[in-house]
Amino acid sequence: MRITGPSADGDTDLDAVRLYDPDFYATGEPHAVWAQMRRRGPAHLSTLPDGRYFWSVTRYHDVDNVLRDHTRFTSGRGTLLSVLGGTDPAGGKMMAASDPPVHTALRRPLSRVLSDRALRPHEPRIRAVVQRMLGPLLDGGVWDVAKAAAAFPMAFTGTLMGLPEEDWPRLARLTTSAVAPSDPGYRQTSRHSTLAAAHHDLFAYFSAQVRDRIRHPREDLVGSLVGLELDDRRLRHDEIVYNCYSLLLGANVTTPHAIASTILALIEHPGQWKRLLAEPSLTGSMIEEGLRWSSPASHFLRHAVHDLELHGRRILAGDAVVAWLGSANRDEEVFADPYRFDIARTPNRHVAFGLGPHYCVGAPLARIALRILFDVIVTSVEKFTIAGPIEHLASDFVAGIKSLPLTAQLSAAAARAIDATVTQHGPAS
Ligand code: HEM
Repeated sequence: MRITGPSADGDTDLDAVRLYDPDFYATGEPHAVWAQMRRRGPAHLSTLPDGRYFWSVTRYHDVDNVLRDHTRFTSGRGTLLSVLGGTDPAGGKMMAASDPPVHTALRRPLSRVLSDRALRPHEPRIRAVVQRMLGPLLDGGVWDVAKAAAAFPMAFTGTLMGLPEEDWPRLARLTTSAVAPSDPGYRQTSRHSTLAAAHHDLFAYFSAQVRDRIRHPREDLVGSLVGLELDDRRLRHDEIVYNCYSLLLGANVTTPHAIASTILALIEHPGQWKRLLAEPSLTGSMIEEGLRWSSPASHFLRHAVHDLELHGRRILAGDAVVAWLGSANRDEEVFADPYRFDIARTPNRHVAFGLGPHYCVGAPLARIALRILFDVIVTSVEKFTIAGPIEHLASDFVAGIKSLPLTAQLSAAAARAIDATVTQHGPAS
């Protein structure tokens, strides 16, 4: 998604905006439209040509309300616009598509396995992956950060889940197909068939992984789900498969875009990049600003549990309500000067990881991975230069970049370290 500011005229016909059209996110200006929705239509109704409809909330406090209050807005019928008009078969079985108390029981053991403390032993492995991923850039070549980052989460989530490395490229492609089935880079014959094929392949894949863990128990994330007890019973096969899918999707389709969009923001704001180089202790708060700025998950959806009123509009029980996280993260009522990329922003109560009971269970892992990556970048790179056209992903769910080719001018320290390695070991082949 192109990250722009509010438009100057500000009188777009909101009823004509195709918020449900993935192309709008590849070529349009969603941020400019959301700014107007926050001002003129904070509870906005969109109707598709086939008659299906959904409500949108764009203000921070409404997004907070919708995501936090499962008694009024349920996750049980699915949480993405792609399920509009139907019911997600994973409802009540997959953590992301269930409400407490089922949700709480599923989440507790997973959040333990994904806590900062449990992840600490995996940090050296993530660091090694980062070094490998940045190799072409540090060697002076053109590096497509978006393409490199797309493979990155597989290396840590794939490892934690115990998935064979030879499967990672295929899984990375399938998860993106599941969230961007209309994008020309992923679309097969139609959006619908692309989505169906991606789901089929991912579910079949995890079904085989689960069968394998039952035969040969292992202590990885898939193994933890196989052994999980829920109210005195084990999880059923389909419940395990759905949750494996959700964990992999959660990691794969978001983390790459936080990386690419943050690097692009640093290039577009050279003063902030200079400040970061001078004050590397700001790396942590820069990452949080990068998450607010990029908001990689654009929306999450809920369904109204009963009739209710929002900003004078009547929402009926069963209506779909979409909370636009990218918009909440630019709400001028909450963020001072929200269209300014400020690596030292304080406070920064962004909702890029959501909030309430479904607050991203992978947030500690994402933060560790981003920190390791940006620590290396800040100590190695003096300047990035864009080396080719930028391509944006066509997806109503993921605010993504498909291609961002870069070259880098290395810092003196990084150049010296590379020279020393070459002198010792000869050039890399
Ligand atoms: C920058 C990276 C990430 C972003 C921006 C992000 C964003 C989000 C958001 C906004 C939610 C809330 C969903 C809702 O309210 O319905 C969420 C939930 C979730 N995320 Fe992430 N995520 C990221 C990384 C990860 C990683 C690395 C994993 C896997 C290890 C993951 C797995 C999940 C899962 C399973 C849920 C559902 C949690 C629940 O229902 O309790 N995410 N994520």
